Amino acid sequence: APPRPLAAEKKKDEPDPDDGRPRVTVFFGTQTGTAEGFAKALTEEAKARYDKAVFKVVDLDDYAAEDEEYEEKLKKENIALFFLATYGDGEPTDNAARFYKWFSEGNERGEWLSNLWFAVFGLGNRQYEHFNKVGKVVDQLLSEQGGKRLVPVGLGDDDQCIEDDFNAWKELLWPELDKLLREQDDSSAAPTSYTAAIPEYRVVFVKPEDAAHINKSFSLSNGHAVYDIQHPCKANVAVRRELHTPASDRSCIHLEFDIAGTGLTYETGDHVGVYAENCVEIVEETEKLLEGVFTVDSDKPKKSLGSYVRVPISKASTWCFFCSYFSSPATKILLNIFLTEHATPLEESQECSWAPIFVRQSNFKLPADPKVPIIMIGPGTGLAPFRGFLQERLALKESGIELGHAILFFGCRNRKMDFIYESELNNFVETGALSELIVAFSREGPTKQYVQHKMAQKASELWSIISQGGYIYVCGDAKGMARDVHRTLHTIVQEQGSLDNSKTESYVKNLQMEGRYLRDVW
Ligand code: 2AM
Repeated sequence: APPRPLAAEKKKDEPDPDDGRPRVTVFFGTQTGTAEGFAKALTEEAKARYDKAVFKVVDLDDYAAEDEEYEEKLKKENIALFFLATYGDGEPTDNAARFYKWFSEGNERGEWLSNLWFAVFGLGNRQYEHFNKVGKVVDQLLSEQGGKRLVPVGLGDDDQCIEDDFNAWKELLWPELDKLLREQDDSSAAPTSYTAAIPEYRVVFVKPEDAAHINKSFSLSNGHAVYDIQHPCKANVAVRRELHTPASDRSCIHLEFDIAGTGLTYETGDHVGVYAENCVEIVEETEKLLEGVFTVDSDKPKKSLGSYVRVPISKASTWCFFCSYFSSPATKILLNIFLTEHATPLEESQECSWAPIFVRQSNFKLPADPKVPIIMIGPGTGLAPFRGFLQERLALKESGIELGHAILFFGCRNRKMDFIYESELNNFVETGALSELIVAFSREGPTKQYVQHKMAQKASELWSIISQGGYIYVCGDAKGMARDVHRTLHTIVQEQGSLDNSKTESYVKNLQMEGRYLRDVW
């Protein structure tokens, strides 16, 4: 039997905030704005279909100030729709992280969500190992905790066309929502033809006289020295140098920020986010290209900087923030080009003295006991956290602390071009902070040499470290490198440990669960 409209299920004595009208809350966990865009588009369309329901779009971070409040509030929801992006190594977006942690630790709560109807649409990329992990986990947990699933979890794939996945999922959702939100005898039951446009990319042209409010939003806007993606901290650039040699046709820039006096804190292994400044020529060119293509919004900056592009007219401050939603193929191409420029920030031609930065915590940490042996795998820019690890180990060593064995697998194209931090790494070996440095040069010989090939050559040594309780760290490209390294690790465990396939799987899973196999990949 089709479910009855929710309004009819309400008990008479229950407080009724919305006159008995069914309520739909649309949550989003977004990093670059796509999930937020989908949440809003679906809500607009649903509002037009179901005029008796009350809709709310909610940023998961804003939903509750304290964890306890999640429980209190969720209990009162009628219908909850979730748009959840998965990031990096199967992680939630920043704004969903607190909710995700709280919700995934709630096994003991039982079936407390039995009044809730829900549907989840995940945003991910099939190239990644943990495709749509966050969407899948939340969908599963909602069901385990008593919620009633309206439609199977949507698995949006950014590698293909995620808008198509969203539209297909929506078509499954409407008939289910119809059952809940349309009265059986309602004459408006015939489907309407309204389709809401997904919000367009919004461009904010900032005039020089308005530049003050940019600076304001960059610091201390919440009254505390707590910086995050929405409240970055203005930090001076102390050191800036090119790491590739002139023989390389690519660039990799080393930047150091002076954070003295800012109150900004971090630990080895954390991430720093930098709002990159585009050079004047790019800004001017983009401004010309964008004019007439996008909605121009000259309002004050909105809370979610991540959802907007700002194209300041002022040459003095040229900030650009990006969201990933594009309204037509033509603009997609245009903005892809723009984003690719974006990928090489702080160009040579440019004066660069400071940038807005923030710190994102990570669980990529050295073992608490420095005697525990470690294996680090980080080709290319994946080397970054290991340089920090090694600096920390060197400091420990210099203060007389005994260190466990440490192996670093680094990979680059060619020793003469992109062997970044070569002398510093050699120095770590000489001082004993690093026991072994193993480098794979991919474009020196007739065949490609990658870090995982070097790992395979060291299989028995690696197995001995792993079976002694050592840690394995992988940092860098998720789609190719981390996936291939994972396979190699699997093979090493299987062959060296003489395990069958399923025992190997659970062995490697266990390493991950114990926090001994950590990945910081993108
Ligand atoms: P390539 O560009 O010659 O293919 C840092 O980017 C290094 O990682 C480069 O030497 C690059 O080699 C290498 N690399 C590319 N794909 C990889 C993969 N799937 N696994 C390991 N290393 C890879």
